Amino acid sequence: MTIQEYAAALVRDIDLKPAELAASAREFARAMEEGISGRPSSLKMLPSYLSGPTGKEAGRVLAVDFGGTNVRILLAVLDGAGGIQVLARERFPLRDKSKDFTSEEAHADELFGYIARKVALLAPGGVEYPLGHTFSFPCEQDGVNTARLIHWTKEIKTSGVEGQDVNGLLVRALKAAGAEHVRPVAVINDTVGTLLAAAYAHPNVDIASICGTGHNSCYLEPRHPLTGGPMIVNMESGNFDGLPRTEWDERLDQASDRPGSQKAEKMISGRYLGELLGTILDSMAGLGLLKHAAGPRSTICGADLDALIAEGGAGPEIARIMRDSLGLGDLGPSDIEAIRGIARAIGRRSARAVAAGFAGALMRIDPDMERPHAIAIDGSLYERMPGYDAQIRAALSDVLGRGAERIRTILAKDGSGLGAAIAAAIASGGN
Ligand code: BGC
Repeated sequence: MTIQEYAAALVRDIDLKPAELAASAREFARAMEEGISGRPSSLKMLPSYLSGPTGKEAGRVLAVDFGGTNVRILLAVLDGAGGIQVLARERFPLRDKSKDFTSEEAHADELFGYIARKVALLAPGGVEYPLGHTFSFPCEQDGVNTARLIHWTKEIKTSGVEGQDVNGLLVRALKAAGAEHVRPVAVINDTVGTLLAAAYAHPNVDIASICGTGHNSCYLEPRHPLTGGPMIVNMESGNFDGLPRTEWDERLDQASDRPGSQKAEKMISGRYLGELLGTILDSMAGLGLLKHAAGPRSTICGADLDALIAEGGAGPEIARIMRDSLGLGDLGPSDIEAIRGIARAIGRRSARAVAAGFAGALMRIDPDMERPHAIAIDGSLYERMPGYDAQIRAALSDVLGRGAERIRTILAKDGSGLGAAIAAAIASGGN
């Protein structure tokens, strides 16, 4: 077998065909119903205790956006007429050469202490600040201001956080940092933040999604069983288990920190796509189709994956990626094209898998597609991967036919931080 033959078969295998896509969307809608009714489901369907914003939220608030290995803090003013102005912002990593607050060796108190000290610097004393906290991991909530971390995702491992109320941890850390004038009043998922922020700027937003390092979507449930009224539900759709998987997905899953969990996220998100390509290349090397150059391969970064996926592209740049990122030597032009074809298939499947979830959610909230819908999306894959939005849209048409014409997809850049500011204003009664 040649590299080209192997790649062609793999590209066919990995693709989510229209019939598979439609079946996954129906399965997604079924899993939503099971989850929201409290029956076992791969969709956690976590209540946020928030519905859509009114636009009348007002006040000066702080927002902490903790989504992965970087944290952002915003100081913002909501004007009560649908406007938000950011007065100050700060962004810092939780991991660098001298420290890693995301490793198992680091403890909750160190992690939240570090964040609290940064917040204190942005919030001079003398005035009270309500704070909204976007915490982008699966949390059980029984109100808008408590959120117990169910488990870490995205390979973050800090000790002493799982099972704890992250709002409580932040309150304690702020007190220790001498910043008791900052009152954490709301904890939200980043998808929920994205929906809140996008609803400020656009009509008809009823689904929001993150397609970046991690993947997840939320939606506005019109009649939530807890309240009988509208509520945003964090589906934790990265854990959906109704997508057809290949042997490489199984292998990647088995080698991950938590085999069996976040199956969809491992097929979709930026944290894993490079690894999936690496897993495939390893099995090709195992079959003698490829030769690894010196040393073990490193995980390919998002920018390099995007460069492989883009049509055309500069030869020297692609050769560098093959050699330095993928650790491959001795490749002719048609071998390189075959490997780029595999990278494109991985990217395309990611977009179609995301769309299966959107279609499933739409089947639930508007089965006959009678109304216009806007889906707000943030994250590096959506923003930067060539063709990603077009592939989502094509997949929506595959499942929903003409109904897909009523759907708008919107890039909601940095919505999760702004959403935390809106949530803080809602929860502190500033509306
Ligand atoms: C988390 C979600 C989050 C998503 C995007 C996933 O790993 O489980 O809570 O929304 O990443 O950040």
